[in-house]
Amino acid sequence: MKITSDFLVIGTGIAGLSYALKVADQGTVCLVTKRDIDISATQLAQGGIAAVSALDDSFFSHAEDTMVAGGHLSNPEIVEMVVQAGPQAIKDLIDWGVKFSKNPENEYDLTREGGHSHRRILHAKDATGREIERALVAAAVDHPNINLYQHHIAVDLITESKVCQQQLENNSCLGAYILDIKNNEVIAFGARFTVLATGGAGKVYLYTCNPDIATGDGVAIGWRAGAAVANMEFMQFHPTTLYHPNAKSFLISEAVRGEGAILRRSDGYAFMPGHHQLKDLAPRDIVARAIDSEMKLHGDDCAFLDITHKDADYIRERFPTIYQTCLEYGIDMTREPIPVVPAAHYLCGGLQTDDNGETCIRNLFAIGEVASTGLHGANRLASNSLLEGVVFAERAAERSLARMQETQPSYPTIAPWDSGSATDSDEEVVVAHNWDEIRRSMWNYVGIVRSNKRLYRAMSRIKLIQQEIHEYYWNFHITSDLIELRNIATVAELIVQSALSRHESRGLHYTIDYPQTDDKFQRDTVIPGAKLPES
Ligand code: SIN
Repeated sequence: MKITSDFLVIGTGIAGLSYALKVADQGTVCLVTKRDIDISATQLAQGGIAAVSALDDSFFSHAEDTMVAGGHLSNPEIVEMVVQAGPQAIKDLIDWGVKFSKNPENEYDLTREGGHSHRRILHAKDATGREIERALVAAAVDHPNINLYQHHIAVDLITESKVCQQQLENNSCLGAYILDIKNNEVIAFGARFTVLATGGAGKVYLYTCNPDIATGDGVAIGWRAGAAVANMEFMQFHPTTLYHPNAKSFLISEAVRGEGAILRRSDGYAFMPGHHQLKDLAPRDIVARAIDSEMKLHGDDCAFLDITHKDADYIRERFPTIYQTCLEYGIDMTREPIPVVPAAHYLCGGLQTDDNGETCIRNLFAIGEVASTGLHGANRLASNSLLEGVVFAERAAERSLARMQETQPSYPTIAPWDSGSATDSDEEVVVAHNWDEIRRSMWNYVGIVRSNKRLYRAMSRIKLIQQEIHEYYWNFHITSDLIELRNIATVAELIVQSALSRHESRGLHYTIDYPQTDDKFQRDTVIPGAKLPES
């Protein structure tokens, strides 16, 4: 089966939906998501979206905070461009129907998070992403030009190189093969422009506050098609996720610390002043490492986040989702500190793009967490990611619409999917076992504190698993579990390869073998896309 459209958008978080809404008046859009439309990392974002609006704030200050948090690895021109586009991005969201929280004076309420020198984060109480997703989904499903394909997962991209089986200098994207999960059929989606907005890869790690869908699909399929990736070693660990056997790493927003919460050890000692001058509002990499080292030093299972000194009514009103969720696990945050541990949260690297979100493959865009645009550098500043999603959706949309004007309308010719002589698998356990092994190895050997020895250990295991997956992939019918396993294995390998090549500590990459920052490494870690036989 084949389906064609002007725009193929894979992923329905803030970036994918914003792009779809920006282009839909000018052409047909196929909007593809592997679960229900509102299952995305955006949906779970609590803290908010950073943009300069207070009179005492400035673009300069937002840019400076972004550069400092990013270990001065961010691209200053991209940083400048994104922070300046902030107010318009907020206006777009409000026009699409997003309702941000207001203060008693009826102005937008601004909160603070780690690394920000000003209050500049707009939020919808403590469920900002849920409100954004609600509004954007409502706008997208109402649009007559947007055709929605839920429960469809991308298998691989279709490129010119792949079609003619030649490594082309100027490769371009023609669409993607996508598995209709419910009907078990691979459909060839042809499109003039393909947009990967598939989000992050937290599921590469054993503990993550990401949704189950975060399996690095876009990074893996983009890289396999020949697109370069950058800065994959910079996986951000959120310092505070709920420590409870049944809580599945529920996020406790950094805004809780922004509103005054203090991190303590089990003996009550407030340890952050000993680690950084910004204390509990230090950038995330520093807070996560501080918690990790305090836990190891004192043999504690977790740290404790204490906001009990604040008025109980205020806490319930400002953080209703966190309050309610903690209560369900028997913790009343108005009266007792919340047990917390770090967990994998945000991939700062990804498919390398230009300032319009386009990868090195023509007509293939990557926007949102899947991309490495140059904004985050070695460590993302809190609440900059929702902003990046909207700003790059706008730029990618402008770029594709402009190119559409320049070229004759013609839809790419693509072949249907060929499943060859594949048969049904008789050993599904292989998928579950390999999935678990990758996630454990990544957590144990490629976590908050790294070493060469641990990284090599992880690499040798991942290589073995890759061989098994390869064999499995070519011999058996594909399933969504197998596609996701293949993707997390690819992403894990790219993370380890990048980490091994950075012989310094910077931002989120901390290694005991090279504990200092080294100017020689003030550059992106770029891995060129795979050559043809990979896919
Ligand atoms: C949080 O609410 O702490 C997460 C915000 C972010 O990751 O930007």
